[in-house]
This record gives sequence, C-alpha cells and structure tokens, in this order.
Amino acid sequence: MKIGILGVGHIGKTLARKLSAAGHDVKVANSRGPGTIEADVLASGARAVTTAEAVEGVDVSILSIPLNRLPEVAPLIAELPAETVVMDTSNYYPQRDGTIDAIEAGQVESLWVAEQLGRPIVKAWNSILADSFAKKGTPPGSPDRIALPVAADRERDRKVGKALVGDTGFDAFDAGMLAESWRQQPGAPCYCTDLTRTELPAALAAAERARLPKRRDLALAAVFERLGDGTRNPDADYAVRLNRALFM
Ligand SMILES: NC(=O)c1ccc[n+]([C@@H]2O[C@H](COP(=O)([O-])OP(=O)(O)OC[C@H]3O[C@@H](n4cnc5c(N)ncnc54)[C@H](OP(=O)(O)O)[C@@H]3O)[C@@H](O)[C@H]2O)c1
Repeated sequence: MKIGILGVGHIGKTLARKLSAAGHDVKVANSRGPGTIEADVLASGARAVTTAEAVEGVDVSILSIPLNRLPEVAPLIAELPAETVVMDTSNYYPQRDGTIDAIEAGQVESLWVAEQLGRPIVKAWNSILADSFAKKGTPPGSPDRIALPVAADRERDRKVGKALVGDTGFDAFDAGMLAESWRQQPGAPCYCTDLTRTELPAALAAAERARLPKRRDLALAAVFERLGDGTRNPDADYAVRLNRALFM
C-alpha cells in the first residue's frame, strides 16, 4: 500500500522502518522538513518528504504526533478522499497536551480526534510502548505474540488497520467501535502492558473508565521520578512492570 506517516518520533520512526520493510511504499514527514529526518528511519526504503507530500496519493495516512498537534494537520487530512484510511496512534496526556476540556469531561479520545479531523479514524498502535514496539514484534503464529487493539467505525478501515498492525509484528485484535476505544486509553489494563491475544479480551472487558486518568497520572509520575523529565521514554522492562502493577 502507499502509506504516508506524519510524525517520526518514538513511534513514527518504528512505523516507518517496519512498514517499509514489510514491502509498503512509505513516505514520512515531521514538522521541521525532510532534511531533519534521520537516515536510519529511511534504511528500509521509506522516503523523507514534506507534510503536504506525505498525504498526496496515499491509501493510508498514519498520524503519529502529539494529540494536541493534530488540529495543525487537520487541513492536510481534509484534502484526502473519503475512502483513504486514516490511522492515529495518539494518547491524551494533559501534562504534555494541555487541558482539553472535552476529554476531561469524558469524551473518548479517538472521538475527539475524529472530530478535529472531521472524519473517521482507526485507533491503533496507541497501546504499546515505543521500546516494546521497536523490539518485541514477532512473525504471525509465534508463541506469546503481543496483541494490539484496533478500533474503527468503518469495516474497510478496520480491515486495513488490522492488516497493517499485523505487518508491524503484532496480532491485531478487533476492539470494536471508536466509542468503545476508551478501553485502550492510558490507565487501562491493556495499555502498554504487552498482553497476548489470549489475555487481551479480558483486559479490554475489565477496563474501568472512571479510574483511567488517575492511573495514567500515577504511572507518568513514576516515570518522571525515574527519568527526570518527559523527553526520554522508559525501557519496556520497567514500564511494562509498572503499568501491569498499576493498571491491571
Ligand atoms: N512514545 C510512546 O511510547 C508512545 C506509545 C504509543 C502511542 N504514543 C502516542 O503516539 C503519538 C506520537 O508519540 P511519540 O512518542 O512518537 O512522539 P514524539 O517522539 O514526541 O514525536 C512526535 C513527532 O511528531 C512530529 N510532529 C509534531 N507536530 C507535527 C506536525 N504538525 N506535522 C508533522 N509532524 C509533527 C514531530 O516532528 P518534529 O520533531 O519535527 O517536531 C515528531 O516527529 C503521541 O500522541 C503519543 O501519545 C506514544
């Protein structure tokens, strides 16, 4: 497929490497221009382009930028044909994104994103830590392969989204409609806890909506205490242990 990725950070760079290695035609863009994208991101064949070029003629547009920056790319996404699949990896962290009143009042994060973009999205790859995402992908059928929830409102979006999650080395699990995707938000039992396909359904079912923000903030406070600031990401061993203790 022809894929354009906006955002080449912790998650976006691994998406670029894995999806181009899987044989897709991948373009990547950040906010500062193609010359600032590191060579190793492009090692499997992805091409560095401008943001405008990243959405041109693609079958799938993947957004992997901070949630509060999504309104900036909404005009670009608005140019896409209705059938283009738009996938989003974002999560809401008020400490990074500032307070977003609608989400604080209970709006599901993916529905807020869909509203900003004015179109349906696929919510995927939001529930795996960057370190696990880079290192823990395995071929289909591998024992204990990690499973990731994929939520979408349109059938074709769901099908394409699941296939691409599979191409990155993880079992794609149908998590239903976007309205239910709060079950995969920060603080939920399946959030960055590296569960298998056998474990994931019970974790989604066990999510308790009212407890998510507090659990998210507890985990973030522990990570800040360990790393000193929010610029680095914790390694998977530490963060998965922490998240399992707090979220499950
Ligand atoms: N890190 C994780 O473990 C993790 C796990 C799952 C989901 N997520 C979510 O996935 C999203 C990305 O996270 P991340 O950790 O990869 O972020 P990150 O490391 O901070 O990278 C963000 C990327 O977005 C780009 N960007 C920002 N505004 C942009 C714009 N207007 N147009 C184009 N590119 C833009 C940045 O480009 P510049 O460098 O040029 O500004 C950068 O390449 C976030 O919503 C995050 O919550 C993160």
